[in-house]
Amino acid sequence: MNKKTIRDIDVAGKTCLVRVDFNVPIDPNTGLIADDSRIRAALPTVHHLQSKGARIVLCSHNGRPKGKVVEELRMTAIRQRASDWFNTDILDAGLPGDNTDPADVIAKLAPGEIAMLENLRFNAGEEANDPAFAKALASLADIYVNDAFGAAHRAHASTAGVADYLPAVAGYLMERELRMLTRALESDEKPAVAIIGGAKVADKIQVLANLSKRVDTVIIGGGMVAAFLKAQGYEPGAAEITDEEVHAAGQLLFSSPAKIMTPSDVVVAREFAEDATPYVVEVTDVPRDSLILDIGPGTRVDYADEIIEAKRIIWNGPMGVVEWESFSEGTRAVARAVAVAPDAFTLVGGGSTVAVIEKLNLRSELTHVSTGGGASLEFLEGKVLPGIAALDDR
Ligand code: 3PG
Repeated sequence: MNKKTIRDIDVAGKTCLVRVDFNVPIDPNTGLIADDSRIRAALPTVHHLQSKGARIVLCSHNGRPKGKVVEELRMTAIRQRASDWFNTDILDAGLPGDNTDPADVIAKLAPGEIAMLENLRFNAGEEANDPAFAKALASLADIYVNDAFGAAHRAHASTAGVADYLPAVAGYLMERELRMLTRALESDEKPAVAIIGGAKVADKIQVLANLSKRVDTVIIGGGMVAAFLKAQGYEPGAAEITDEEVHAAGQLLFSSPAKIMTPSDVVVAREFAEDATPYVVEVTDVPRDSLILDIGPGTRVDYADEIIEAKRIIWNGPMGVVEWESFSEGTRAVARAVAVAPDAFTLVGGGSTVAVIEKLNLRSELTHVSTGGGASLEFLEGKVLPGIAALDDR
């Protein structure tokens, strides 16, 4: 870890602007927060800063309001939930440029007290990484702490620009994410397995290319299986696949340093519908009019056997249409295998993959469940994340 963290600076009596990723799923019917794990994940950093006598100004985006105030995307429910978890009343500080001047609210904070800004993306300067907005944010504090790993792949005013104007350090969550993802990519724990699912080869080709140089086996699942089957000369069914996808899959299959595992059987259906009748077929017999919606029972066993032997496991992306009961068993089987792999370092990222882990209550069986979807994927692709690059070097 070559970036400074909250342990490297003296925060006593200082005001810390803490960028968190409280972009949490909210149930559209009830308006209630469906999963508050990102809020809980900020607790260690908040407790550290409180115990050292810092004043804390939390800030986050919520959804994609595109520079306008959208009432449903206000931070109100999130601030309330954070107040409950942090066991303190978090003040509403508004946003620079609003009627409420955040500086007035922040000036009232005693050491250890917390305020929260309104949704950063209500201001167009946030996503544009406008220096004026970054400066306005910086003017509210003495130190910038970035604990928003989930937004670290965005070069926005609050994730990157603000670091030009303040000492900039990582919080505990950011530090843990970086350590765990670095271990996933670079440690010599072997054999190492990467399990990659997803609808389209195009979305995953970069992560597949990077991981195939860093693990022993890459396991393929999800809609992109069709492109891999076509590249092997099999009938892929009714899915629309481009020549580029087949070419990319073929390149990986035939020139990857790692062993690439693709299904030997799949679950198909004649239509893309939750109540469609599932059929199990060998990959040599996929009907032209059917869609591949999950890996088959034989493949589940082969994949689980490979996973259970591994000492380092990286998983991103479901094996099938996991939201639909009839097409979720492949993903569940992989989740159970990852959870029971003895003595393995296990890292899971990606929204729908993490949701399966939660549903099966397996979180405590894994070494690390990333709070970043896009951010963890880009890290595993080998990219430099702007929110990390902007932090001060040690
Ligand atoms: C996420 O949920 O992946 C992060 O909060 C980033 O959100 P974004 O994709 O809207 O930038």
